[in-house]
Amino acid sequence: MCGIVGILGTSPATPRILESLKRLEYRGYDSAGIATIEDGKLDRRRAPGKLGALEDALKASALSGNSGIGHTRWATHGEPTEANAHPHMTHRVAIVHNGIIENFRPLKEELLGKGITFEGETDTEVVARLLTSYLDEGMPPRDAFHKTLTRLVGAFALCVLISGEDDLMFGAREGSPLVVGFGEGENYLGSDAMALASLSNRLIYLEEGDWAELTHAKVQVFDPAGNPVERPTTISQVAATMVDKGNHRHFMQKEIFEQPTVVAQALGRYLDPNAGKVRLPQMPFELATVPKVTLVACGTSFYAAQVARYWIEKLARVPAEVDIASEFRYREPVYMHGGLAIFISQSGETADTLAALRHAKAAGQRVAALVNVMGSTMAREADVVLPIHAGAEIGVASTKAFTCQLSVLAAFAIDLAAAKGQIDETQEAAFVEELETTPKLMAQVLHHDEDIAKIARSIAHARDVLFVGRGIHFPIAMEGALKLKEISYIHAEGYAAGELKHGPIALIDENVPVIGIAPEDDLIDKTVSNLQEIMARQGKVILLSDGAEKEAEGMYAHLSMPSAGELVTPILYAIPVQLLAYYAAVEKGTDVDQPRNLAKSVTVE
Ligand code: M6R
Repeated sequence: MCGIVGILGTSPATPRILESLKRLEYRGYDSAGIATIEDGKLDRRRAPGKLGALEDALKASALSGNSGIGHTRWATHGEPTEANAHPHMTHRVAIVHNGIIENFRPLKEELLGKGITFEGETDTEVVARLLTSYLDEGMPPRDAFHKTLTRLVGAFALCVLISGEDDLMFGAREGSPLVVGFGEGENYLGSDAMALASLSNRLIYLEEGDWAELTHAKVQVFDPAGNPVERPTTISQVAATMVDKGNHRHFMQKEIFEQPTVVAQALGRYLDPNAGKVRLPQMPFELATVPKVTLVACGTSFYAAQVARYWIEKLARVPAEVDIASEFRYREPVYMHGGLAIFISQSGETADTLAALRHAKAAGQRVAALVNVMGSTMAREADVVLPIHAGAEIGVASTKAFTCQLSVLAAFAIDLAAAKGQIDETQEAAFVEELETTPKLMAQVLHHDEDIAKIARSIAHARDVLFVGRGIHFPIAMEGALKLKEISYIHAEGYAAGELKHGPIALIDENVPVIGIAPEDDLIDKTVSNLQEIMARQGKVILLSDGAEKEAEGMYAHLSMPSAGELVTPILYAIPVQLLAYYAAVEKGTDVDQPRNLAKSVTVE
């Protein structure tokens, strides 16, 4: 993972790099560092912890120079100490790296054998020492950098400064994204358009294997063999303004409360309420010819995929399979001719999901990317892009992206059902009308904020919490458990309610809160019976439902939800589980927006 940025500039680099690193902190925040070059001399500051620690280090000891590179780290090899923080420096080079150098061990052995010593444990230091060894042999910088790249196996995006070379910076991309930005007498490198948003909107997205040589005056891009290549320049739409928290204490809270607005925006792009129709972006194939849908994603996006499977199979009667992206290609999936594979990702950069997308594309599947970040690698590589229009999501815990994903997937399922002739125009119009009610009902759920906060405070000190649901609400139970564990560090699991008695019920005692997700539907009686079984064993049941009023009487707590159909309820029930996690985390005093060990964008496998 990690975020990297490079500025070959004409005004002090450090504050500008810090500004870019703030935009990149979503890629990791275990440590941060900056190196600059001035009068041919390299210098750096690094600090373990979040960017604030680096800012303090820079206040204590400023770093001058108009050109520099910066890094925000999500640790892969080596603990998040200062010694392992990037940039890695030798007497000749400073390097920042995003990715993993898979063959770092043999390379390290080789360098150790030559008497070269190492300071830290990172795979990146190997790159710095290898490049240094070639420069020390007398190779010109371009040759030394190219030769270094030919020795590396793995995923990497690199930015490199070389001592004595104030007008030179190298960048390379293999597996991890890297963007070149153009300025006036300046040029830049960054992990993504967001990193460069305050610097430039004229960008080149480097392709796999590309590397670039930057001077103040020009940028040359080369292919892996070292031949110059031309890449198209694009104009980024990413806004330069930093998103703020408004009146909210955390980004996560702001993003939860934005949901009625952004879901309305997303639905506005996909639904035509006057015509009673769904309008998907132009597809280069007929939906009616799709024999099977494969949905692939990670984390919260995976739970959105699981919900979508119910809609697709129930409404369109098209077989749908769902996979966790990190498992997908290793099980050698059986593709169906003409099959549609949908890759769901807020960031559009998740390494496993991207690798799965490439696998499906290489196998000739029709490939769609359902993403929030337009311009992301998945959006650029897919045959069709289904944007979710959630706006920038900053909190590491995904909230509004999830409900926007669900909204777009619900629209997709309706359109597929219509294309397949499973629903007629009247039914399509009824489904569109139903989906249109979502934002209003979401706002009603948010009015229960205080009640949910109270419940959350009562479970915040539990050791284990279970979430249970049936059918289309089983994935919401799993999403609730994921939210709770990732930001409050409480152990939580989501189960199909009927599965509890096959083992997990052994966990139940008076200390275990169980959140029951039970909308008034065909399955409510069965779910409520399962909750009664938990109560019979002293479990502390918290019911989220628009029904079961009578049964709720003996329960620990009951949150009364608005009634809706199955196209809407998974979206509505996402909100209380998000708020439970949020308020439990606030009660525990954890870092809600940047929980430990995580990053917003997971660009390593
Ligand atoms: O950007 P993506 O949607 O591909 O990210 C997938 C997961 O990493 C992400 O949903 C993660 O599970 C969130 N932290 C959950 O809140």
